[in-house]
Amino acid sequence: MDFDNEDHSAKLLRAQIHIFNQTFSFINSMSLKCAIDLCIPDVIHKYDQPMPLSQLISALPIHPCKASFVARLMQILTHSGFFTQHNATENEQEVSYVLTDASRLLLKDHPFSLTSLPKVILDPILVNPWFQLSNWFTNEDPTPFHTENGMTFWDFAGCEPKLNHLFNDAMTNDTRLVSSVVIEKCKGVFEGLESLVDVGGGTGTMVKAIANSFPQLKCIVFDLPHVVDGLQETGNIKYVEGDMFEAIPSADSIVLKSILHNWNDEECLKILKRCKEAITNKDKGKVIIIDVVLGNEKEDSELNQTKLFYDVEMMVLVTGKERNERDWAKLIFSAGFSNYKITPILGLRSLIEVHA
Ligand SMILES: C[S@@+](CC[C@H](N)C(=O)[O-])C[C@H]1O[C@@H](n2cnc3c(N)ncnc32)[C@H](O)[C@@H]1O
Repeated sequence: MDFDNEDHSAKLLRAQIHIFNQTFSFINSMSLKCAIDLCIPDVIHKYDQPMPLSQLISALPIHPCKASFVARLMQILTHSGFFTQHNATENEQEVSYVLTDASRLLLKDHPFSLTSLPKVILDPILVNPWFQLSNWFTNEDPTPFHTENGMTFWDFAGCEPKLNHLFNDAMTNDTRLVSSVVIEKCKGVFEGLESLVDVGGGTGTMVKAIANSFPQLKCIVFDLPHVVDGLQETGNIKYVEGDMFEAIPSADSIVLKSILHNWNDEECLKILKRCKEAITNKDKGKVIIIDVVLGNEKEDSELNQTKLFYDVEMMVLVTGKERNERDWAKLIFSAGFSNYKITPILGLRSLIEVHA
C-alpha cells in the first residue's frame, strides 16, 4: 500500500478512527449503566452545588482502591452529555460536576425518571441476543432473542419474573413522561369519548394519566396475564387479561402505545383488525397509536440515529420494526380504517389518530 500520498494516509487513519469509534460505542452505554448503578446523578444532586471530584469519590459506594478511576468514568460521561464540568474560580485545581437535562432524568425521585430504561436494555437478558445476530441471519428463527433463549421475548417475560419486572418498570418510566405530554398537548384527542381500552397497556401508566384528566371515561388496561395479574381495579380503571390476537374488550376508543412496532406487518394487521372489531361506536370510534414514525426527524441526527437503533432493537428482540408514514398508511388502510392524522410532538414517538 502506498503511504507516500499524505491525503491517502490521512483518509486511512480517519477510517481507522471511525472503526475504533464505532467498535467502542458500547462504552457509552456501559458507562451510563455504571453511573446509574452507582447512583452518581443522585449523589451529585444531593450535594446541591457543583460537586468537587474528591467529594464525589468519598460519597460513592466504591472501594477506596478504585478512587482514582472515578475521574475517568466522569470524563467519558461528561463527553457523552450526562454531566458538565464546572470550575468555580480560574485558580481552582479540582474539577467539579453538575447535572445536565439528561442526568436529571436519571434521578430516582424525578417524576419522569428514566433509570429503569437503560437498566433493562443493558441487562444481559436483552444484550446476549446481540451475540446471535449474525448466526440468526443464517437460520430460520424469528429473532436473535429466540435463537438465544429458544422462545419469544413475551413468553420469556411470562416465565422469568426478573425480565417481567425490569421490562414493566422501564415501560412505566417511559410512559409517565409520554402520557404527561399527551395530556398536556393532545388532550382534545380524548374529548367526548365514553370508554377506552389500552391494548398491551402494561401496568396502566397511560390509562392512569388519561383517567385522571377524564374521570367520566371508563378505562380498561388490557395485557397478558403475567403483566396485569394482581393489579386492583380502582375508580374508573379495570384490568383485563387476554391476548390481543384473539379478542379485545369493546370500547369506543383504543390506545396502542409502543405496541405495533413490536410486531411485523402481518401481525399488526391482525391486531388492527381486532381493534376495529372492538370499536363499538363506528362514528366517534378511533384508535390512538403512539409509536415511532421514521423520516419526520428533519435534520436532527441524534433523533434519526435513535430511531434507527430502535428499529434494529426491535429486529433483535421481537418481530417488529419502525415504520415511515407510507408504511403506517398502508397498514391502517389495509386494516379497513378510513383515515389517519399524525401529530409528531412526542420526541421519539408521534401520536397517530386513526378513524374507523
Ligand atoms: C412495549 S410494551 C408497551 C406497554 C405499554 N403500552 C407502554 O407503552 O407503557 C408491549 C406490551 O404488550 C404486551 N403484549 C405482548 N403480547 C401481547 C398479547 N398477545 N396480548 C396483549 N398484550 C400483549 C406486553 O405484555 C407489554 O406490556
